[in-house]
Amino acid sequence: MRISVIGTGYVGLVSGVCFAEKGHEVVCVDNNDLIVEKINSSISPIYEKGLDEMLSSNVGKKLSASTDLYKAIHESDISILAVGTPYNGDEIDLKFVRDATIQIGIALRDKDSYHTVIVKSTVIPGTTDDLVIPLLEEYSNKEAGADFGVGMNPEFLREGEAISDFMNPDRIVLGGIDERTHDNMAEIYSGFIGVDIILTNNKTAEMIKYTSNSLLATLISFSNEIGNLSASLGGIDALEVMNGVHLDKRISPILDDNKRLSPSIISYLEPGCGFGGSCFPKDVKALITHGKNNSQKMSLLSAVININDAQPYEIINRVKRHFENVNNLKIAILGLAFKPGTDDMRESPSIKIINNLLKGNAMINAYDPIAQDEAKKIFNNSNINYCNSVIESIDGTDIIILLTSWPEFQDVPKILKDNNLNPLVIDGRRMIQKNSVSRYEGIGI
Ligand code: UGA
Repeated sequence: MRISVIGTGYVGLVSGVCFAEKGHEVVCVDNNDLIVEKINSSISPIYEKGLDEMLSSNVGKKLSASTDLYKAIHESDISILAVGTPYNGDEIDLKFVRDATIQIGIALRDKDSYHTVIVKSTVIPGTTDDLVIPLLEEYSNKEAGADFGVGMNPEFLREGEAISDFMNPDRIVLGGIDERTHDNMAEIYSGFIGVDIILTNNKTAEMIKYTSNSLLATLISFSNEIGNLSASLGGIDALEVMNGVHLDKRISPILDDNKRLSPSIISYLEPGCGFGGSCFPKDVKALITHGKNNSQKMSLLSAVININDAQPYEIINRVKRHFENVNNLKIAILGLAFKPGTDDMRESPSIKIINNLLKGNAMINAYDPIAQDEAKKIFNNSNINYCNSVIESIDGTDIIILLTSWPEFQDVPKILKDNNLNPLVIDGRRMIQKNSVSRYEGIGI
């Protein structure tokens, strides 16, 4: 099929490239010349594992980029709206959705053949039906259902794993206004064999997306609350507690051969320094606001956010168990990004922790394999020294704080031993064994 993808952020670009890989003819549209130029030169404008390679093998064949939205709509059968929905502190800002929808509507006005518009941006339930459809009808002077189809197809892509999540989906959710829309949407996914497809309406599709992220965020805050309680009670390690919980056969089923299925959901059931990124904090908060606007108290999800907002300070509490203040202490921060595999610093717990330590006049050695350039945009402080390796960052420090579970940080105990170093190690992700270093503190202990 001929697909136009409107918006080449992380979701749009990954979707466009992957649909091209699946054999569709794709044009990615963005109003930023530089981004378009980069894509056409097979250079990914964002860091995402495997994206450069996949761009190289598709650009000039099945994939191109353009700033010309009008032409792209006329030369495609189906458009995927994947513009950003930034969070403005209270709710998501639909400005880009609105602007792009108007432009699509204008293009559809002169298009004779039937076209399908799919919303992929994460939007609160009701947006596709109550905002996108009326705008498309107004600007195209046509009728949804009769002249064009409108669907909602949420994405479930984890940063750092986006290509593999797209190519191996666990579900495909297709919201749509009618059968024709569903059929067209199903056709672009026809190359995905054996995947569960949910055919539903637009509002339910939008709700599935928010509910999925809210559940995962809830699991994390739940684990953190249990972790904090375990730590304050003393004599309990929340990691052991959660291991005991994981073995409930409703969470980790026992298979016929008596082996255990160990689902990856259990990694969201571990205490740590809190969730971050561009999705969980924003999506949960936007759903809370939407719920409140619709007379729901949203008490559980509000608690999820409150727990998460406070969680980075658990790290500071661990520091305070050992030091009265951090004035002139040398502290290594290992990991800046909100999770491994990405350079994304958005809402990373490291921001609150580093700012707090800097306020106390600590000297920070920071190291992250890929997020340092992004971090430099956030911290402009001469008390931060960016290092090029674990060993460089930990040399001569009083405290090491592990904040992102990059695999290479698992070597910290060995590096300390080999170099005869004995700092306090605070494990914000419970990623090293607690008895592997002589002075250990972890979340949940
Ligand atoms: C999340 C969802 O996992 C995706 O399904 C969804 O499509 C995406 O948001 C989105 O809405 O676009 P992402 O934000 O990339 O993806 O990150 P995750 O890997 O889920 O991590 C989110 C947070 O959970 C991180 O702060 C991470 O530290 C924490 N986490 C992650 C855990 O505590 N345990 C894990 O096993 C994985």
